[in-house]
Formats: sequence, C-alpha cells, structure tokens
Amino acid sequence: MWFLLLACAKDPVIDSGIETCGDLPEPEIGACDGLPVVTWQGFGHGFLLTQCQGCHASTAPERYGAPEGVVFDTVEDACGQADRIRARVLDDDSMPPAGGLTEDERVLLSTWLDCFLPYEGL
Ligand code: HEC
Repeated sequence: MWFLLLACAKDPVIDSGIETCGDLPEPEIGACDGLPVVTWQGFGHGFLLTQCQGCHASTAPERYGAPEGVVFDTVEDACGQADRIRARVLDDDSMPPAGGLTEDERVLLSTWLDCFLPYEGL
C-alpha cells in the first residue's frame, strides 16, 4: 500500500530577523498563519494602479493635488510608504478620496502590507 506524504508547506512568514524592504517590521510569529498569500504581483500592483495611481503615478498627467513625492510606481515605493498607505486607507479611510473600496480589498491590503510586503522588492 502506498502512502502519499505531503510535505508541509513552510509558513513563508517567520520572525527571522532578516532585512525587510523599506525596513518594514516583520509580522509577529503566528500573526499571518492561515492567511492567503497576497503579493505585489497578485494584488498590490493592480490595487494601487486601479485605486491610487490615477493621481499618484509619477506619470499621472493630472495629480489632482497629490504630492509629487507620493508615488506608487514600484514595490519599493510601496515598501517605503507602507505606513502611510495603511494610515490613509485603513485607519483614516481618507484615500482614495472618493472612497468606494470593498471590504475584501481592505482585508487583502491589510494582509499584504503586514504579512507579505516586508519580504518583497529586496
Ligand atoms: C483623486 C485623486 C487621488 C487618488 C485616487 C488617491 N489619492 Fe492619495 N492623495 C491625493 C491628494 C490630493 C493628496 C494630498 C492631500 C492629502 O494628503 O489629503 C494625497 C495624499 C496622499 C498621501 C500623502 C499624505 C500622507 O498622509 O502621507 C498618501 C500616502 C496617499 N495619498 C495615499 C493614497 C493611496 C494609498 C491611494 C489609493 C488607495 C490614494 N492615495 C488615492 C489624491 C488622491
């Protein structure tokens, strides 16, 4: 009789003390257990493009007053401003200015910022 041994997928999020992008804090051990993998490629890039870059892209023809230095073109940009993205979108609910994010988007954004972004763009 054959038994199929499935290797346990290693939790990608560990408190390893490694360098993180933008010096973001690593998540606490266990804080991200069981959460879906949410990455720049799978979520962050598209989310920022759709919801933010209309005003914030370095190439935006009309910024509607968005500060020049606040751009989200690359994952490194996102790393460097992760705390401000969290503050304005998730804490203050003041970006995008017109609102309209779904609860799913908010949950995915939170997961990405806390659990996966620190390990990206290195
Ligand atoms: C319709 C245009 C527009 C869109 C879309 C938009 N912003 Fe902004 N953003 C602004 C303007 C105008 C300011 C400057 C005024 C202010 O800070 O409220 C700004 C400022 C900011 C700042 C810098 C100020 C701070 O608190 O650090 C951040 C960070 C920011 N936006 C994040 C975002 C994110 C993240 C999104 C997408 C989820 C987004 N914005 C979408 C117009 C926009």
